[in-house]
Amino acid sequence: MEKKLKVGVLGATGMVGQNYLRLLANHPWFEVVYLAASPNSAGKKYKDAVAGRWHMKGDIPEQFKNLVVQDAGIVSKAIGKCQLMFSAVEMDKKSILALELEYAAKGFAVVSNNSAHRSTDDVPVMVPEINPEHLDIILDQRKKYGWRKGLLAVKPNCSIQSYMIPLFALMKAGYVIDKMIVTTLQALSGAGYPGPAAIDLVDNVLPYISGEEEKSEVEPAKIFGKVRNGKIVPDNTIKISAHCNRVAVTDGHIACCSIHFKGKKPKEEEIIKIWRGFEGLPQKLKLPSAPVPVMIYRDEIDRPQPQKDRDAGNGQAITVGRLRKCNVFDYRFVGLHHNTVRGAAGGSILTAELLVTKGYLK
Ligand SMILES: NC(=O)c1ccc[n+]([C@@H]2O[C@H](COP(=O)([O-])OP(=O)(O)OC[C@H]3O[C@@H](n4cnc5c(N)ncnc54)[C@H](OP(=O)(O)O)[C@@H]3O)[C@@H](O)[C@H]2O)c1
Repeated sequence: MEKKLKVGVLGATGMVGQNYLRLLANHPWFEVVYLAASPNSAGKKYKDAVAGRWHMKGDIPEQFKNLVVQDAGIVSKAIGKCQLMFSAVEMDKKSILALELEYAAKGFAVVSNNSAHRSTDDVPVMVPEINPEHLDIILDQRKKYGWRKGLLAVKPNCSIQSYMIPLFALMKAGYVIDKMIVTTLQALSGAGYPGPAAIDLVDNVLPYISGEEEKSEVEPAKIFGKVRNGKIVPDNTIKISAHCNRVAVTDGHIACCSIHFKGKKPKEEEIIKIWRGFEGLPQKLKLPSAPVPVMIYRDEIDRPQPQKDRDAGNGQAITVGRLRKCNVFDYRFVGLHHNTVRGAAGGSILTAELLVTKGYLK
């Protein structure tokens, strides 16, 4: 790309927002020029707005330290500054629904981490290796709302990436999966900052995350669905039962899965071969943030582990292991991904790269 595309981050001071800045600091296509957050941070230099709550390993990238944070609620402030807006604000759902539509109506390409628009039937829920063709619904969005340049795409809940890509690879190889039971062990960063109180977490597991099990059961159907007549029609072939738990791990969500095949069942070695050989459109297009390989199968009996595997592929790869027979369904396995990278900022950046290559962002 000759000239970098100017981008903004809404919710730049939060857990996901900070990951955006870390991942975009040296991005070959995108240049972050606009930062926004709540009215509490608005008017402050970024380094002052995040003082005492910068959670990334390295320091705040130099180019962002003195940028003045704007109020994400005032759309007019961003006009003319950037074309692409990553949204990672934490507000009530109704406000986010309206705010993201307003940014899109004002000509911004909005790629969001929030769940507000995931059930809007003309908004694609993107896992770029699985459903790149869902971006074609942007033409319908533009027609319906009269947007010339605006668009709206979202990424799914951060708990599902570690099994969606393994499932999709098997489906693409011709197998039909009709049942899955999944138990997730989800990291603290998934709850934003400061997250649950320490006294609830030390020496403990929280067996409830509000709304998470419903999202884990419903969102896959839309991602596996088809675009028809301006809507994404869900594919409900897989029935999912989810148990979601919060555990005292900083980053990296684990999913322990049992799957059942309808009809033909693959052998264990074949499943591993399919997973190791899988690549999606982002890998074929060599997008800057596409991990190669996208799926890593570990042979060790005690992997994947958050500490050891979450940063694989710069936090964008899925690590899978412990494939074995299941006494109730057909097979069991464990998947892991970095929740604030592949499950949040990184997944959205990959979607934005796909938007560029598909010509929706010029
Ligand atoms: N953490 C994850 O792993 C993860 C994964 C996937 C999706 N998500 C989603 O991504 C979004 C951000 O999550 P997070 O974990 O980064 O949350 P967070 O750490 O709590 O950060 C929230 C951000 O929203 C801003 N904000 C709060 N109220 C606002 C308002 N009224 N107007 C404008 N901005 C406001 C905050 O600004 P101030 O700093 O000024 O308060 C901050 O920048 C959420 O919708 C979440 O569900 C999170």
